[in-house]
Amino acid sequence: MNIQNQEQSAVSALPANPSVAIVGATGAVGAVLVECLENRNFPLSQLKLLASERSAGRKVAFRGGDLEIQKLDVHAFEDVDIAIFSAGAELSRAYAPIAKAAGCIVVDNSSAFRMKDDVPLVVPEVNASALSLHSGVIANPNCVAAISSVALASIAAHRKIRRIQMSTYQSASGAGQAAMDELNDATAAALAGEAFEHSVLPHPYAFNFFSHNADIEGDGYNGEESKVIAELRRLFDLPNLPVGVTCIRVPVPRAHGMAISVELDAPLAPELARELLQNAPGVRVVDDRKANHFPMPVEASGEEEVLVGRIRTDLGDPSGHSLSLFVVGDQLLKGAALNAVQIAEALLATNS
Ligand code: A2P
Repeated sequence: MNIQNQEQSAVSALPANPSVAIVGATGAVGAVLVECLENRNFPLSQLKLLASERSAGRKVAFRGGDLEIQKLDVHAFEDVDIAIFSAGAELSRAYAPIAKAAGCIVVDNSSAFRMKDDVPLVVPEVNASALSLHSGVIANPNCVAAISSVALASIAAHRKIRRIQMSTYQSASGAGQAAMDELNDATAAALAGEAFEHSVLPHPYAFNFFSHNADIEGDGYNGEESKVIAELRRLFDLPNLPVGVTCIRVPVPRAHGMAISVELDAPLAPELARELLQNAPGVRVVDDRKANHFPMPVEASGEEEVLVGRIRTDLGDPSGHSLSLFVVGDQLLKGAALNAVQIAEALLATNS
């Protein structure tokens, strides 16, 4: 059954100032979720920070005070209205049903429910209308799908997308805080001429890049690539869209890059594409050909907007229907935490 055809099941209305919980609050995404809620002045009555027993009791600064990390357990959601999960698919599968049964709306950052018919997969700039069809759980997309879809949304609204081909340059943050730490430690060791035993990622990370660490599946694509393909189809509501992608892990802390070629149903002049992108929500055009200045991780890190540049006709498509773009977005913000907070904001907006 398709989500679009489904009746919305009864979900209790949210209070104007909901009680919010973050599951995985000590992780790379969890920490940025706390920052986002604070920076965007999210109207919450209580913020509950949940993590494993290892972190219980640790203090996290929020709005001028300190919040104590609490151990996640089955009772954690009893006084919570919105629970944002960012602690991996296994924990989401185990605890999201418990949170939902306790009356919470779950915004899940893991891959656990992204392909479920009764769980909308939402990027507010792309398919905000899908949100109204939720029945207690909303999925936050994979970081590459989220960032690339924001870059493509204004073009998709103007021309029909026929095909997407992309290569990614993905940062350490996508593999969690431990991978970010490994990048720092491996780089420091390499600069000091010391040996370093990598333990988080499968290959040496300093001054190196490698095919994304997700397992390779039967079709030769890795798990990350399969998620990007399936999720872009779902976000654009184009179930048969041909999408090809190669995902590469690069030694960058927290912003993902992607070189995208998008084939359209008719040619789109780069000048018009630039204009569409300049007016697109969540996008900043960085496309200074004279200065050779285009999107870069150092300029995208910490930024809410997705940077888009290298806007040109793809000469690799003889029909002239394809456009090339280079896109960089903060993996922890638009690729994860910010999108989840925007979903929560949209829930409140539709609630009022
Ligand atoms: P903790 O720091 O207590 O281990 P990242 O994706 O950056 O690796 O973060 C993973 C997040 O998931 C962390 O906040 C981590 O908490 C949390 N987490 C991992 N295992 C559990 C668990 N069994 N119960 C609750 N939280 C967990």
